[in-house]
Amino acid sequence: MQLQENISLQPYHSFASQEKAAFFSIVSTDIEMETAIAWAQDKAIPFLVIGAGTNIVFTKNFEGLIIKNEIMGIRKTHEDASHVYLTVGAGENWHHLVSFCIHKSWGGIENLSLIPGTVGAAPIQNIGAYGVEVGEAIEHVTAFDTLIDQWITLTKADCLFGYRDSIFKQQKNRYLISELSFKLNKQPNFKTDYGVIRDRLHDMGVKTLSLEAISNAIIHIRSQKLPDPKLIGNAGSFFKNPTVSKEQYEKLQVQYPKLVAYPISDNSYKIAAGWLIENCGFKGVRKGNVGCYEKQALVIVSYGIESGQEVNHFSQEIIDTVLKVYDIELEREVNIY
Ligand code: EPU
Repeated sequence: MQLQENISLQPYHSFASQEKAAFFSIVSTDIEMETAIAWAQDKAIPFLVIGAGTNIVFTKNFEGLIIKNEIMGIRKTHEDASHVYLTVGAGENWHHLVSFCIHKSWGGIENLSLIPGTVGAAPIQNIGAYGVEVGEAIEHVTAFDTLIDQWITLTKADCLFGYRDSIFKQQKNRYLISELSFKLNKQPNFKTDYGVIRDRLHDMGVKTLSLEAISNAIIHIRSQKLPDPKLIGNAGSFFKNPTVSKEQYEKLQVQYPKLVAYPISDNSYKIAAGWLIENCGFKGVRKGNVGCYEKQALVIVSYGIESGQEVNHFSQEIIDTVLKVYDIELEREVNIY
């Protein structure tokens, strides 16, 4: 096991703040991962597995072992008349997998183009965009269960996928993911319900839909609206879109006729957190070395922070203000350590 001590975490997460880890190890096999966990358990220190660090804020030094998952590999395990089954190492780059599948004409995850991060992180918050969530394409997940110290396989149903939610998020750090199996479609089942996708395809002059055309449209939309974490520190959407009761929605709607929301059941509505934040005046606002992104209020950006504390404090200010104005408590989507 390769072990580094007292290293800066700056290169390993997209907010790129300067907190340190007492111990740091890169693992590229499941055996190395198990060894690293056993080492930390033996020393009775905390451990945390990271992928590309694109959904995380460090607010203090990590006094334990950070395990960077670089378990790679994309393998077709089998196929039938309509589907292809792939097993993918958790350390693979997410967009690389999406591009690989598009190239092979395997559909199902093209709407998730250009989402930063690794394959192993995708099921944790059940990444989703433009009407598709990764949980829909996952068959099962292989993980080390730290409660029973055993490798287990979780089926899609075991994963308890919900909106930006899963068993991996509910039971933080219990399951350490090594690989995932995906079920992809040989016959296209294009999802272009989102108006912005249809508009973009139209502007691109696309006459015949293809996986590639949809992916290109989404890459264009995302690049226009979301900051590239390689250039500006950020972790994508910082907050979840909140759900409120129909009663609360109707009250708000009277007060704020322009409120952006849509029904998700007979008696609940999902509200666009970006709208709430923008309408509290935060969009484009900079405070010290952090700010609310000028093109998408749901994203907090760094202008060169030293500590993730700055991000955390700013996000709290947003939560407090939205609560005061709309009586809605925003929930962070990003992991805070
Ligand atoms: N809006 C505003 N102001 C803003 C941002 C949004 O008024 O600054 C309103 C607009 O009316 C807009 C609506 O909110 O039409 C929805 O905005 P958008 O389509 O950008 O989607 P979102 O709800 O802000 C979610 C995901 C994104 C995903 C998009 C597209 C969450 C927390 N975020 O954002 O995911 O790309 O939908 O499907 O659900 C991510 O998780 O990092 C992420 C970028």
